[in-house]
This record gives sequence, structure tokens and C-alpha cells, in this order.
Amino acid sequence: MKALVTGGAGFIGSHIADRLLERGYHVRVVDSLQPRVHPKGKPAWVKPEIEFIHGDVRDKDVMKRAMEGVEIISHQAAYQDYMPDFSTFLSTNATSTALIMELIVEMKLDVKKVAVASSQAAYGEGRYTCPEHGPFESRGRSLEQLERAEWEVKCPTCGRDSDNLLLEEHMHNPFNAYALSKLFEEMTALRLGRLHGIPATAFRYSITQGPRQSLYNSYSGVNRIFCLRLLHDLPPVIYEDGMQKRDYVHIDDVVAANLLAFDDPRTDGEPFNVGSGRATTVREFAAELTKMMDKDIAPSIPGEFRMGDNRHSVSSIEKLKALGWAPKRTLSDIFADYLAWIQGFGDVGDYFREADKLMREAGAVRAVKPS
Ligand SMILES: NC(=O)c1ccc[n+]([C@@H]2O[C@H](COP(=O)([O-])OP(=O)(O)OC[C@H]3O[C@@H](n4cnc5c(N)ncnc54)[C@H](O)[C@@H]3O)[C@@H](O)[C@H]2O)c1
Repeated sequence: MKALVTGGAGFIGSHIADRLLERGYHVRVVDSLQPRVHPKGKPAWVKPEIEFIHGDVRDKDVMKRAMEGVEIISHQAAYQDYMPDFSTFLSTNATSTALIMELIVEMKLDVKKVAVASSQAAYGEGRYTCPEHGPFESRGRSLEQLERAEWEVKCPTCGRDSDNLLLEEHMHNPFNAYALSKLFEEMTALRLGRLHGIPATAFRYSITQGPRQSLYNSYSGVNRIFCLRLLHDLPPVIYEDGMQKRDYVHIDDVVAANLLAFDDPRTDGEPFNVGSGRATTVREFAAELTKMMDKDIAPSIPGEFRMGDNRHSVSSIEKLKALGWAPKRTLSDIFADYLAWIQGFGDVGDYFREADKLMREAGAVRAVKPS
């Protein structure tokens, strides 16, 4: 039994690779060891039993070699940055998926499952509901609105503050290149899978947290930045008013969802959210983390915001729960495991300075205008 994990040196892919090894698979990994994610080269957690191919998922020859004889393909490699190189998002995330499907057909592979990593990002700002005019798809918040410190999404008809709806799999509302690439990735796998009789499943992960997460990965966002600041006895800096709702899921729960899909044909042809089933505000997150780190530091809420941030993003997990999966880890588990991981680095000063520099260089943070 052979399995391929693309991006298997990365955070989520490496955990999936380990579990496949435990299940007795011969595991092959294709990873280009992106310098931003792996500044020190191939990480030590890639087990010696893994057949490691240092290559790019966009390279047909590399993928031909990697896919020879595989039954399971777990596509985790992705370009996930804040840079404006839109075509790199699409080629790395979506076109690579098309290449995988193309090679399955071309090589006549008897594949039991292709599972692709989509993202909650595919929802963009998602859907909201106005108390008077009902549900609508949000187009995001304007710069002028944010400069007035009006944080909630407004009804396009009457301008009233509206409530977020739980994100469900039938929705999508991508608003940037990464989100578009993830939606195209999942549609490519699911639609071509349906057309060519290839069992495929797409997972829209919420913000996934756990050991092995790159300290540079933009997804580690708030957790990484708050942890690093608190470790340096600095207050976590909260944007907007801190009442933004987010959804943090533990890596073990994400891996469990993938394992279920490898075996369960009820997941064929379908997208599934993988989240915590719980909304956490940024203030709550900061307070719990500060407590867990045993610090007596109040957060700073300086009246700043970032263009492009969603106000609220919380996924419904009912569809996957109906198949027997459920998140088992709590926010405290996430903090405990992340802290153990980050503390294992010893001095995190370099990462802290790099994260700080990237934030400032991105120029994404703006201040509200006094009225
Ligand atoms: N971490 C999250 O919170 C989160 C949330 C939603 C979706 N996702 C998706 O989950 C997947 C895994 O994310 P992660 O957090 O483990 O990221 P990661 O950056 O830790 O791992 C991705 C791996 O892919 C490799 N890679 C990048 N480009 C490649 C290429 N062209 N060819 C071969 N390898 C390449 C990188 O070197 C890295 O090892 C991604 O598809 C991501 O879009 C992650």
C-alpha cells in the first residue's frame, strides 16, 4: 500500500504522513522545502522511513515519479503568502491539482482517494443576516467604514449591523488570490473526480494550530504573534475592537478528518469543513493565552485594523459530524501544544523580529481616523 503526501514536510502534511506510516503505508512525500516555511532545510520530523522527493508539485516528471503505484493522495502542498503574485497561487494550488487528476487518468492509477486541503478562506467574508432584510453575501467592509471604527458588517439595504451566519459547505465567496486558488483546487479535484470516477474529497480547514507549524506561516497569525509578544513580556496587540469571531482547530482533529476520508466512501465527491465548532473572539483568545502563559499583561487595543481581514469566520461542522467525526481538542489543548512547540525553539527572538518586520513591511495595519 503506497500513499503520497504533497507538502509532507510541512505542518499538516507531516502529521498526515506519520499517521499513514502507522497504518502500514509506504509513504512518499513531495516537498519543495519552501525557504519561507523551512529556512533551515528539511525538518528533522520527516521520518527516515518516508521516501522523500525534493521537488515541485507543478513539475510533471516529479509528480509522475511520486504517483507511481499510489492508492492514497493527500494534497497538502500550497503557496500561502501575502504577496501579489497571483499566478503562483493558482499554479501551485489549483493547477497542481489538475496535474494530479491528469496523471491519475494518464497513468491509469487505481486510486482509493484524493484528499485536497482547501480552506475556510474560500468563504471570504461569508454570509451575514440583517435583522430586517435577511441574509446577504458580504462584499467586505470599506476603508472609510473601518476608519470610522464601524467594525460590524452592514446590511447593503439599510446599513444596519448584521450577524454572521455559520459558514456552510454550499457557500463560497473568495476575495483574494489564495482563496480563489483554494476554491479552484477543490472544484478541480471534486468535479474532475466525478467526471472520471476518481474518489476525491476536499477539506476546508479552519485556522489549524499545533506543533510543527512554521513560525513564518501566515496562518499561525494571531497565535504566533500573541505568543511571541507575551514571551517577550509585551502586550498582545488586538486589531479592531477584539470582538472578531474566529475558529481554531487542533491539528489532531484535522488529521482525524483526513484519515476518515481515506476510508469512507461517503466522503467521495464532497467538500467538508473541518473546524472547532466554536467561535472564539480575539479578546477571549488573548485573555486565555495570557492566563495560560501565567503573565499579568493586559492586551493593547490601539484602534488599528488591517484591510482585508474578515470580521467573523466560523464554520459549521455538522456535515462532517454526521459521518462520525467530531473535534476532540479544546482551545486549552491548542495553547498547551503550541506553547510546548514554540518553547522548544529556545530563543525565539529571531522569529519575533522577523514576524514584526513582515507585519510592518506588509503595511497592512491602519489606524482609525479621529471623528
Ligand atoms: N494551517 C492552516 O491553518 C490551514 C488552514 C486552511 C488551509 N490550509 C491548507 O492546508 C495545507 C497545509 O498547510 P500547512 O499549514 O501545513 O502549510 P505548511 O506551509 O506548513 O506546509 C506546506 C508545505 O508545502 C510545501 N510546498 C509549498 N509549495 C510547494 C510546491 N510548489 N511543491 C512542493 N511542495 C511545496 C512547503 O515547503 C511546505 O512544506 C495547505 O494546502 C494550506 O493551504 C492550512
